[in-house]
Amino acid sequence: MEERGLSAEEVELLLEEKKRKDLRYERIFSSMCTYPHEIAIRAHMKFIEANLGDYGLFPGTKEMESEVVRMLGSLLGKEDAVGYVTTGGTESNIQAIRAARNLKRKELGNATFNIVVPESAHFSFDKIADLLSLEVRKARLDDELRVDVGAVGELTDKRTVAIVGIAGTTEFGQIDPIEELAELALEKSVFLHVDAAFGGFVIPFLERRYKFDFSVEGVSAISIDPHKMGMSTIPAGCLLFRRREHLEALAVETPYLTTKAQYSLVGTRSGAAAAATFAVLKLLGREGLRKVVGECMRLTKLIVEGARKLGVEPVIEPVMNVIALKVENVELVAERLREWGWRVSTTKKPKALRLVIMPHVTEEAAEQFLVDFAGALGLS
Ligand SMILES: Cc1ncc(COP(=O)(O)O)c(C=O)c1O
Repeated sequence: MEERGLSAEEVELLLEEKKRKDLRYERIFSSMCTYPHEIAIRAHMKFIEANLGDYGLFPGTKEMESEVVRMLGSLLGKEDAVGYVTTGGTESNIQAIRAARNLKRKELGNATFNIVVPESAHFSFDKIADLLSLEVRKARLDDELRVDVGAVGELTDKRTVAIVGIAGTTEFGQIDPIEELAELALEKSVFLHVDAAFGGFVIPFLERRYKFDFSVEGVSAISIDPHKMGMSTIPAGCLLFRRREHLEALAVETPYLTTKAQYSLVGTRSGAAAAATFAVLKLLGREGLRKVVGECMRLTKLIVEGARKLGVEPVIEPVMNVIALKVENVELVAERLREWGWRVSTTKKPKALRLVIMPHVTEEAAEQFLVDFAGALGLS
């Protein structure tokens, strides 16, 4: 760091230079984030200094967080669910498992515990295993890339603090059989956490109905991310619990703050992202969110149909706005697409070209992508 600072104009120039290096989202088909809604940006800026880590100082911001928790609880089948606005799916997953681990500790004392997750689980669960010194047991998937509930049952034992189901897997957008997992969880008296970080803002608005939320008895916690399909600003996730005692299992005393206890993982935390989420949910309502999902699904179908015309099939019929295409030499094809300005990713098992059709994708971009995809396959 320099002894003397630059002028504001010089700093602005530096910022512009850096901004030009960042990509815009228009041709990004690899990310689960998107441009935030304009109202979210305005709300974020209005509450930029608010710290929810010491919310006695920011009661208005706290009211918005509580209202977000209530709105998302009602979207996910339980208006009186308890929770808080997190920094995203990773923090929500960490905290859900930490709560489950703490509850299990009360029962069994200090022991070596495990969690059972689908093979398709997001890598945040590997971080969790490391952080909480848990063994992470990965259950195999069926032919449709949903977790095999029989395998989950075999891996679950007395030391299992939680089993995890994914509602919208990161790679394939698949939904695990949550009702069957819930039956197993109730039978074995195990905590069931549903990772709906991506799918939470999609599944309620699909034409086909899926039971994946608190309406399923046995679901104890859910992660849902406003900074993905909720069009809020980063960092906005939300963790919801069925019962207050789950949240209480995370309490840490906070002697010098305006509040007595803290439940979040991070201390100082963004009131701006909570305000942004509040604003989007109030502005769009369920009707607006349904429209956003409807458009993403329309373009998803358009791309899948276009790929089929090129002789390329999806690995599974897309359940939500995530497409995995069976492509020979997939890394080469992905590289060619990248050279032409597209950002796509590939899946691990099975290998496929992965596309996430987020709200920033337009019909024009989808059509142009199909033209370039044909070129990358060597078909034009
Ligand atoms: C299913 C799922 N869970 C958790 C996460 C982690 O979310 P974040 O990157 O917001 O921490 C992701 C990220 O893509 C995800 O897809």
